[in-house]
Amino acid sequence: MKTAKFPKNFLWGASSSAFQIEGGWDEDGKGMTVADFNSFKRSEKQADSKVASDFYHHWKEDIALMKEMGMKIYRFSLSWARIIPDGEGEVNQKGIDFYNNVLNCLLENGIQPFVTLYHFDLPYALVKKYNGWECRDCAFAFERYAKICFEAFGDRVKYWQAINEQNLMIRVNERMNINETDLWKADKIRAQMDYHMFLGHAMAVNACHELVKDGKIGPAVSSTCTYPLTNKPADVWSAKMNDWMKTNYCLDMHMYGEYPGYYMRYLEERSIVPVMMPEDAAILKSAKNDYIALNYYRTLCSSYLPATREHPAGERVYRGNEVDFDQYGYCRDEKNTNLEASDYGAQIDPMGLRIVLNEYYQRYHLPLIITENGLGTADVVAEDGKIHDDYRINYIRSHLQACSDAIGDGVDLMGYSPWSVMDLLSSHQGFKKRYGFIYIDRQDHDIKELKRIRKDSYYWYQNVIKTNGDEI
Ligand code: BG6
Repeated sequence: MKTAKFPKNFLWGASSSAFQIEGGWDEDGKGMTVADFNSFKRSEKQADSKVASDFYHHWKEDIALMKEMGMKIYRFSLSWARIIPDGEGEVNQKGIDFYNNVLNCLLENGIQPFVTLYHFDLPYALVKKYNGWECRDCAFAFERYAKICFEAFGDRVKYWQAINEQNLMIRVNERMNINETDLWKADKIRAQMDYHMFLGHAMAVNACHELVKDGKIGPAVSSTCTYPLTNKPADVWSAKMNDWMKTNYCLDMHMYGEYPGYYMRYLEERSIVPVMMPEDAAILKSAKNDYIALNYYRTLCSSYLPATREHPAGERVYRGNEVDFDQYGYCRDEKNTNLEASDYGAQIDPMGLRIVLNEYYQRYHLPLIITENGLGTADVVAEDGKIHDDYRINYIRSHLQACSDAIGDGVDLMGYSPWSVMDLLSSHQGFKKRYGFIYIDRQDHDIKELKRIRKDSYYWYQNVIKTNGDEI
């Protein structure tokens, strides 16, 4: 298929995160993380982070495969606890060495690193000591960790992301280690944690600009686009609120250094306004992001659900582990019958990506980059030993078409880095759900030889990159 041109120097890539690929969870001095802790709780049911895709021992082979696919950038995260095992104490030289080897190898192969500092894996020692982000000290521990990374790697890493999906992470109790069962108390802790993360993020942005020559940094949000179920004004309101309360407040905070009015109103009426020190305002406002990275998988649909006496406005409603309906005034999650869903229920919607790209660009006028987008499926190795994942090719093709449409709309999109470079540990489905271009031959409880197999989508994406998106 022919399509509109992608800009020259477009950053074609693929993505991963430390705890989902590295394995070697306690090797060479690495400390335990919140992500390890949560994955070990599920070890009986599915794979955990102990071996994952075993990138820790296969990095050379994996980078060779990345080069062969033609990647211009590789978006991955550093493990904070590999570099500082207890989060705020001594630096582990072996952790620094590991990432130096990876970075040097990437650069020797012509691949620019695009590095996330923190992707769901807070050092567990900080949970024990501070209850993590609830304590202000955690923001300073993050700033120190960020500075250590900028000093150690900033001569070679020019693209940084401070925190992956703060806006989603904050709603998942286990990722934040929120164990409080009283809903109000849990929300109060959540609001304080969220605020400290904003502070830590802002300090990391400023430190990047001070310490990394030509360094660029920005947030990575889990983007949301919610459609109203009907054209009833209340449904439209609920859809807007879903996007504002889940994502836009977070972007506004990163960009302007203060919560938007509707969010302050929510915090005040729920009586959970976090403690903010007078000196923070200047820090939050001084941090200037260079771009916005967004992760996009699906769209949502909602209808208005009025508050009741049992469920007053502002209360959060839990579904599974995620705090789902966190509206000031409620919204109910609805199925969009116009869209097909993935095997795991994600409503597939390339047009939604075009909407999101236009919205974020028009709101903030910063370059955008997609650092996650992909389809999770239970891939199988066919009798010919290959993985025929045309469903993944179709998914990515249609989303690339949406990118090209958005570029045509005037959006400054600097790159596309789908999820994921290789199969990796999915939080709730282990290795049953796969996203990669490269198949990792293991099952949840049988790690086999961890052979790497190029899927059909690998060869297809290789050609996309080779033709700079002319052939998708
Ligand atoms: C994103 C995360 O939200 O979704 C990734 O940044 C995650 O870490 C991805 O793997 C897909 O989610 P899941 O639950 O299907 O693995």
